[in-house]
Amino acid sequence: MKPDFDKIIDRKKSKSIKWDPEVLGEIFGEEDLLPLWVADMDFQAPEEVIEAMKEEVSHGVFGYSKRGYQYYQSIIQWYEKRFNWKIKREWLVYTSGVVAAVNYVLQAFLEKEQGVIIQEPVYYPFKKAIKKNGCRVVNNPLKYHEGSYEIDFEDFEKKAREPSTKLFILCSPHNPVGRVWKKEELHRLGEICLANGVLIFADEIHHDLVYQNGAHQIFANLDPRFEDHVITATAPSKTFNLAGLMSAHLIIKNSSLKRRYKHVLEKNHIGHQSPVSMAAVQAAYGQGEPWLEALLAYLQGNIRLIETMVAEKLPKAKFTPPRATYLAWIDLRGYGLSGKALEEKITKKGKVALDGGTWFGSGGEGFVRINFACPRKTLEEALERIIKAIEEE
Ligand SMILES: Cc1ncc(COP(=O)(O)O)c(C=O)c1O
Repeated sequence: MKPDFDKIIDRKKSKSIKWDPEVLGEIFGEEDLLPLWVADMDFQAPEEVIEAMKEEVSHGVFGYSKRGYQYYQSIIQWYEKRFNWKIKREWLVYTSGVVAAVNYVLQAFLEKEQGVIIQEPVYYPFKKAIKKNGCRVVNNPLKYHEGSYEIDFEDFEKKAREPSTKLFILCSPHNPVGRVWKKEELHRLGEICLANGVLIFADEIHHDLVYQNGAHQIFANLDPRFEDHVITATAPSKTFNLAGLMSAHLIIKNSSLKRRYKHVLEKNHIGHQSPVSMAAVQAAYGQGEPWLEALLAYLQGNIRLIETMVAEKLPKAKFTPPRATYLAWIDLRGYGLSGKALEEKITKKGKVALDGGTWFGSGGEGFVRINFACPRKTLEEALERIIKAIEEE
């Protein structure tokens, strides 16, 4: 059955964090907002995934469960087919979420006060995790020029060379700026980390949501030396809209890294997974590919809508279409408002909930992030409201 991404599904009365009025009230100070913030989609998951979960539920007994051969095979085959990366079953480590894994990695490999490189503006839970675990944020800010983001390699190298820097969290593709890193860029980052003994945590959770076929390079698969020096984190959650099922995975080839990581899990008795999520993951990777292709085409239509509306109605805005992710990063600094004033205007006047640029750390002020993984009508309505709030005095 062809997926219907135009279908409006009422999520207000579901358990959705994105839509729940109480949650919106707590975070934005207003309850009646049209939400295009946190990164999940307003689309139903693939039919095959829903059916697989129904079948699992119909069994009716939900005891402790084991990941089976087909579960692992579905993941292994996905990487081979879509990224030409041959992984082994023993490299896969279940995690309830990528952010949880960032925290465990910090606990497994770093001591207090040691430094972690991130590239702001970037997905904000990285910074939070680093701070919560008593480590130090080492920012290697991305350079922004003419709507495009680049890595400042000189600064990166300088910071990687500091003896207290122990970890680099790579966000690839990058949230929120939507860059798909080129092989040469990843190579340069990898060489610097290797030369300075900096471990890499490659968060590649958005790697399926890339708009040019084959453009995404798995960092670990670039060089066998990198494969041995990286913890790759990914999940079907963004790809197939399964974030609430709490199922992600790490891919760790190096057995000593894996042992150290798993020690933290064992100390906390972490690792069991719900049988319903196992069924969903297996069906998503095993049968979800046509759905994903249809999704990517639909999302590209949404990007075109943003491009058109911004060009026509927000003359002082700058928007570079993302190469990946369903997140649009829009530069509204031309309107001369502080980050806070801009975000307030959109919330209070526009009645739209977005991720404010300031949330993403340095370089985010005056930008907003729009989650455009919603029916086109919803997106259009939100854009109209944002435009009105910003353009009209
Ligand atoms: C880059 C990045 N990493 C991780 C996550 C969240 O992953 P999880 O829900 O598995 O913790 C997100 C969600 O938006 C993300 O954008």
